Amino acid sequence: MKEDLLDLRNLTKNKIKELIDLALDIKQNPEKYNSKLNKKTLLMIFEKPSLRTRVSFETGMTQMGGHAIYYDLSTSPMGKKECIADTAKTASRYVEIIMARLFKHENITQLAKNSSIPIINALTNFSHPCQILSDLLTITEKKCQLNGLKLTYLGDANNNVTHSLLFGCAAAGINITVSCPSEEGFSPLPEVLDKSKNMAQITGSTIEVNNDPKQAVKNADIIYTDSWMSYHIKDEEKEKRFKILIPYQVNNELLQLAKEDVIFMNCLPAMRGMEQTAEVIDGLQSVVFDQAENRLHMQKAIILNLLKIK
Ligand code: CP
Ligand code: NVA
Repeated sequence: MKEDLLDLRNLTKNKIKELIDLALDIKQNPEKYNSKLNKKTLLMIFEKPSLRTRVSFETGMTQMGGHAIYYDLSTSPMGKKECIADTAKTASRYVEIIMARLFKHENITQLAKNSSIPIINALTNFSHPCQILSDLLTITEKKCQLNGLKLTYLGDANNNVTHSLLFGCAAAGINITVSCPSEEGFSPLPEVLDKSKNMAQITGSTIEVNNDPKQAVKNADIIYTDSWMSYHIKDEEKEKRFKILIPYQVNNELLQLAKEDVIFMNCLPAMRGMEQTAEVIDGLQSVVFDQAENRLHMQKAIILNLLKIK
């Protein structure tokens, strides 16, 4: 049976360890892997912009001896002259694996249901699993552990990165506190909170949601934030969102309330003066470019894992 990576709701501690161990080996010994994907092709379907995801996936395929095709959905019949199922069935006859960055999560589910090859979610409005698996690698490198750490997420929490963080932290045994505005549309989806709380029971970690950023960052090992203007949010909402989200901006004052060795994370792209100040993202505690680099190593591990290549 083919496997897909659509979200992290079924993630386990064992799977995290397997992927991190493989990603670390790939990072340390890249030459060992340079012909693992000989003659294999990855189709990369994009409905939204990207820097990191597009470049790291394509580079990863090239470095492992394979090939990637960038496919811009605006030049495709999919969703217009052709249904998603037909695209999935056709592409399955050409390539070995597909990744897609789409707006609607149900569209990637459709793609997965109708393809005979693995599908990787490269971000939907609902989830961003590749980012969070890569971040678990970065946290492991920086903190030498996952279990028992405290991660505080600040800002827009009705978002893909927060949802995947909730699942990922719960599976890894990381205690997660999400601090976000009480206004409608900024909290994590209730179904994600319920499911991640069930997952957290297995690992013994905690999940908390509040509206008090100062309280939330106390004792944090990691402070994480994400864009206030995700790709799917319209420009005209910027001013209104800024006013609501500004109390959750990560600045030096908040950073100082966390543990002394706290690290600052943002999956990027980032706007200085919005979700964090320049002094924080450009400061010594920031690990944002290590996060960006680790996309490459972790995604190579994900591709090998889904294709069952040792
Ligand atoms: N973090 C991330 O997915 O970045 P891109 O939007 O540049 O791919
Ligand atoms: N939440 C952001 C993540 C970008 C990688 C977005 O959806 O744009």
